[in-house]
Amino acid sequence: MEQQRLDKIIASTGKWSRREAKELARRGLVTVNGAAVCSVEKKFAPEAVEISVNGEVLSYRRVTWIMMNKPRGYLSATEDGRGKTVLDLLPRELQRQKLFPVGRLDKDTEGLLLLTDEGGLAHALLSPKRHVDKVYYTRTKGRLTEEDCQAFAAGMSLPDGLQCQPARLEILLADKESEARVTLREGKFHQVKRMLAARGKPVLYLERVQMGTLPLDRGLARGAFRFLTEEEIAGLRALV
Ligand code: URA
Repeated sequence: MEQQRLDKIIASTGKWSRREAKELARRGLVTVNGAAVCSVEKKFAPEAVEISVNGEVLSYRRVTWIMMNKPRGYLSATEDGRGKTVLDLLPRELQRQKLFPVGRLDKDTEGLLLLTDEGGLAHALLSPKRHVDKVYYTRTKGRLTEEDCQAFAAGMSLPDGLQCQPARLEILLADKESEARVTLREGKFHQVKRMLAARGKPVLYLERVQMGTLPLDRGLARGAFRFLTEEEIAGLRALV
């Protein structure tokens, strides 16, 4: 079992920085197996000990899974010379953890974005073979119709050559500007926008509201994030 410095273990929770961990330890507020540890340079195998900070027992995560409510204006990438990425919305301690987004949302798309350092499960969730539903709320220019729903259900062939798998379009409001829920089981580049544009109803606004069994936590403000619970991670594993 790999040993790590105490400040690194504490900072990996995202709740305290390394500097805060040092200060708390100095004040006797960091304990390992019940005994105060004043030096955060000491190393421990995090899964083998009980660490408590300021009275709070750490649940040490082997892997990190984060749900973010992505705002517009951020790229779903780990680095980009030209602009802000979703990683810029995380505290520095988490930025150092080699997290990456699970799939991409366009720069102007908002909503549910998962970030993790667990490559295997992330990859499986995105695989078109696994058929994990991605659900979007969209506002379009133009009146959506029953024919649009049928075209989505049949599997569209786009003018640019993309052959789409059958998808679900549920109309929430049909008007000069319409609202709908779109459910896809794949995630090709700009897919929702391309499918709706091909129906002559360009997308004005797009938000991902669900991935698999996981709905966007409406308690999260735009740009905010939280760790997934053990149950939520288990729910994702059960999908693949
Ligand atoms: N489809 C799109 O067109 N854009 C996204 O960001 C996600 C799905």
